[in-house]
Parts: sequence; structure tokens; C-alpha cells
Amino acid sequence: MKSLISTKNLDKKSTEKILKQAQELASGKEILANGKPTVASLFYEASTRTRASFEIAAQKIGANVINLDPKLSSVNKGESLDDTAKTLANLGVNIVVVRHPSSGAALRLAKCLMHTQIGVINAGDGMNEHPTQALLDLLSIKQEYGDVENKKIAIVGDCLHSRVAKSNIYLLKTFGAEITLLGPPPLVPEAFSSMGVKVEHDFKKLSAMNLDLLMILRLQKERQFSGLIPSTREYRRYYGLDENFFINLPKQRKIRILHPGPVNRGIEISEDLVDNETVSLIHKQVSNGLYVRMAVLLEILGNNK
Ligand code: NCD
Repeated sequence: MKSLISTKNLDKKSTEKILKQAQELASGKEILANGKPTVASLFYEASTRTRASFEIAAQKIGANVINLDPKLSSVNKGESLDDTAKTLANLGVNIVVVRHPSSGAALRLAKCLMHTQIGVINAGDGMNEHPTQALLDLLSIKQEYGDVENKKIAIVGDCLHSRVAKSNIYLLKTFGAEITLLGPPPLVPEAFSSMGVKVEHDFKKLSAMNLDLLMILRLQKERQFSGLIPSTREYRRYYGLDENFFINLPKQRKIRILHPGPVNRGIEISEDLVDNETVSLIHKQVSNGLYVRMAVLLEILGNNK
């Protein structure tokens, strides 16, 4: 693996290798990268946890981290992604972690850097993919259930605009999960069924689905250009998850909740559920994110010698 752009072609073996290393790191094993490599963090979009997670991960494996804030760098003066890539190549950077509002930007950067030793990690490109989020979600699920094969997972909410949903669909399907996408038709169009998932619009059907996991997505208002839903209040009323959902479930059913963050508390998920650690894996996801990113950085650095 020279770069990590998508989970589409990640096979079970290479994924398990990364997760195993992440698990070892989580258990306290210290692993340092050879030769003090340099990781550049290039975020064209707002981010708290992903950016912090990558930067801390890079520091923990002993890398130098340079933070290229597009607002403060020459990008602000109109420099193209291609020219930024050339600059990074000339500076001897080993890995670029990129987040960009345009779908396809990470692949574009990787293509620009094809003839160099520099690896690219996609930290979220537009509505397209967010592979390390899917890897950390998979680790969180495996820690809880051991295996993903035949697990019933519903991804609830704004699937259309969610790169988290897409990367998770590819990866969870590789691991044999049964996936249903649920949300209002404009945010979960029927076309998703071509990805091998079920599409459902009626929230009331969730409790009868025999689910193991609910992955709740943020309502991504910044990406909704055309008023796809009437109002946040209405969305919350019909698709917001709260304690009532659990009342109708058989007591012995073990359902866990994932959410990639940032959470709109009280909109897609109730305040109480977020912090209820008997059902919510949300805080665990954040800590797993750090170890998964350390493992991905180490894997790429190991291959790009
Ligand atoms: C996600 C993202 O940016 O795609 N968040 C994240 O990486 N922590 C999900 C989201 O923005 O809703």
C-alpha cells in the first residue's frame, strides 16, 4: 500500500494487518517509524478530530509533522493542488494527509505524486470517501463483536453527502456485513442499492430489523445545496435516534451505536445516548482513530522505503 485513497480495493488480509497493528498499539506497544519521516497535514476543510488524530498519530510514531494550513500557505495565493504536490515532493515529505472539499482530490494528489516515494492518505474528499474512518469503525465493531460476518448494520441519515457512509459500505461489505441505509429519500436515494445495500426510508421499521449496529450520520448541512429536507426539526422528529428506540427492543438484544462525529446533539441523536457507554461506541471510536492512523502511517512508511 503506497497510498490510502479508498476502501474499495482494500482486501481482508491487508485490512486485518492494519487492524492488528492498531490493536497492538492500543494495548501499549510502542512502534516507531524508521529514520524520522515527515508527515505533511494538508486540510482544505475544517476538522477537529481527524486532523488532531493524524497529527498526534504521526508524532507518536516519531515522525516530524508539518502543518500546511491552506489559509496561510500559497494555496491562498492561488497555488494549484498539482503545484502544492510538486513543492511537497521537493521538500522530501514522506506522506501527505489530505482533506479536501472536492470528491476526487486525494486521488488527484496521489496521481501527481505517482512518480515519487510520497504516499497520500485521504482524510476525507468531498462526498466521496474517508477510509481511515471506516477502518476505525471496523476496529470498534470487531472489538465489540469479534466478527463482522453477517452482522446487520443500519447506516442512518445523510448517506448522500457522507464520505463516511461510502467508505464504510465498501469495507463492511468486504467483511460480510448486511447493510441497510435508512433516511429520507432525498438523502438516501434508491440508487444506493447498486452498491449492494438495502435502502429503507421508514424509521419505524428499524426496531424490527434485528440489528446489531446503528451507524448514525451527521446531518451535513454544509453540503446540502438545495434544501433537500424541509427543516432540522422535522428531520429530528422522523429520523432522530433517542432512548425510545430501545424501549421496543427485546432486552437481550445487544445493539451498539456508532457516530463519526462531530455530533449534532439533539438532532440526529439525543444528548443522553451519545454519552451512554452501554450502547454508544462514540468515545471509543475517537481513541481507536488514533491507533488506526498510527498503523496506517506505519504501513505506508514501511512500504515506501
Ligand atoms: C466526518 C467527516 O468529516 O467526513 N467527520 C470526521 O471525520 N470526524 C463526518 C462528518 O463530517 O459528519
